[in-house]
Amino acid sequence: MTTKVVPGMLVATPDAETFAVEAASRIGKALRDGIAKRGSATLALSGGNTPLPAYAILAKDDRIDWTKVEVWWVDERAVPPESPRSNYGGAKGPLLEAAKIAPASIHRMRGEDDPTSAANEYEALLRSKVKPAYGDAPSLDVMVMGIGDDGHTASLFPDEPEVQERTRLVVAVPASPSKGREARISLTAPVIESARAIFVLARGKEKVTALENVWSVEGSPSEVPARLIRNARGTICWIIDRAAGGLGPVP
Ligand code: 6PG
Repeated sequence: MTTKVVPGMLVATPDAETFAVEAASRIGKALRDGIAKRGSATLALSGGNTPLPAYAILAKDDRIDWTKVEVWWVDERAVPPESPRSNYGGAKGPLLEAAKIAPASIHRMRGEDDPTSAANEYEALLRSKVKPAYGDAPSLDVMVMGIGDDGHTASLFPDEPEVQERTRLVVAVPASPSKGREARISLTAPVIESARAIFVLARGKEKVTALENVWSVEGSPSEVPARLIRNARGTICWIIDRAAGGLGPVP
C-alpha cells in the first residue's frame, strides 16, 4: 500500500444525488467569486457523463449572473456538435440552454474541423481572451475536470506524447482505433496547471484505482495523466462519491 496524499480539498458525498448537488454548489460559488472579484468568470467544461447532472443543477442557480460567464471547453471529440459524442453537445441542453447563455459567450472547440486547425484556432482564441494569473499560460477561472478509469484527464491519455506538451496550449490528439477512441482536441498541462480553481469530479467504483494512482506519492503523469492536476497553481477540489472512495453504500 503506497502513501496517498490528496493535494487540495477532498469532498466525499454519500450518493450520486448529493454528489451532483455538492459539485454544482462549489462550482457555482467559484463562478460567483470570480465575478465578484474580476467582473466576469470563465468556466471550462470537461465532457463525459459524470458532470452532466451537476451542470443541470448549476444552470438553475439563480445566484449566478450568467451574462458574466464565458464558457470554454477542456477538450472535445473530433465530431460535429450535434453528435452524441460531442462534449459541447452534452452540455448544450443541461447547461448552455438551461442557463440561457448567449452564443457569444460560448467558445466551443470545433470538433467538426480538422483537429490540428481546430486546436490552433482555439489556442489563438484562448490567448486573445484569457489572461494569465500565475505565469504565461491563460488562467481559466473555473475548470471542471474528470478522470478516466485509465487515469486520463481532458484528452491527455496514458503514454501519449500530448501529456508532455509544455509549449502548445491546445493540441490535436490522434485517434486510437485499437482503443476505440476518435481523434480529440485538448487543453494541455500548462493551461490545466494555470486554472484558478479546478474541480475534479469522480463518481463510481470504476474510479477507485485511477484516484489511488493520482493521489499516490509516487507515479508519473505519463502513466497517469490526471497527476498533472497535482501541479495546479490555483485551488483543487476533488469531489467524489463513496463508491469512488472505495467504500460501499451508506449503511
Ligand atoms: C472526455 C472527457 C474526459 C472525461 C473522462 C471521465 O472528453 O471524455 O473530457 O476527460 O472527463 O473520460 O468521463 P466520465 O465522466 O464519463 O467517467
